[in-house]
Amino acid sequence: MQLALATWHEVEDYLRRQRGCIVPIGSVEQHGPNGLIGTDHLDAEFVAKGVGDSIGCMVAPTLAYGMSQHHLGFAGSATLRPSTLILVVRDVVLSLARHGFERFFFINGHGGNVATVTAAFDEIYAETSLGADRPPVKCRMTFWSSGPRAKQLAEQFYGDSNGSHATAAEVSLSQFYQPGAIKHAQMSPKVAPKSGGFFEAADYRSRFPDGRIGSDPSLSSPEHGEQLYRAAVEDMVEAYRAFLDY
Ligand code: NI
Repeated sequence: MQLALATWHEVEDYLRRQRGCIVPIGSVEQHGPNGLIGTDHLDAEFVAKGVGDSIGCMVAPTLAYGMSQHHLGFAGSATLRPSTLILVVRDVVLSLARHGFERFFFINGHGGNVATVTAAFDEIYAETSLGADRPPVKCRMTFWSSGPRAKQLAEQFYGDSNGSHATAAEVSLSQFYQPGAIKHAQMSPKVAPKSGGFFEAADYRSRFPDGRIGSDPSLSSPEHGEQLYRAAVEDMVEAYRAFLDY
């Protein structure tokens, strides 16, 4: 069930039966020579909608923009400052909590969001702990690609060449749901340099000139993407249910 396609009466009905919802979150940032700028938020959204279709849970509209300051050296990338993203996450969670949602399961597509969104969750908990007059909520964030089935497939398809940014797996998933936007590009070296860390945008670009980190997304295919999708939906159904029971 998608929040954006429901009426307020339908949301009230839903809340009489269950109190959980899924929030897809990603980024708007470069994904190497053949990856789409929207990869992170589109991947997270596609998997989240798959979970919603599979078990009928509520899927909120995607938080498309994320914390991507390190990608701003590449055309098309856009970021929220960490302080902005904390407020966005807080305001969305507390708005939905006002109506009775209690469990917020964020399906994430972007590593750069982790520290900031974790800080946002702590801001929300801190308000309750410090005495805010509202029922407590519980939040958790998980990468769509981090479950056992999807991880095993990525390992089987790409081994060490999956990488950590513009990964072969995330590009494959986007090729499955957007076959009309598949790009072909020469990449050199074939496997991008691995990360020892980075700082601001110019530093990132000097270390990773074509945007990739540790990956060979020339191995990507829509057929892999379809298998990764099915695996990720199963993984996230399991993870969401475990979160509801926690
Ligand atoms: Ni990504």
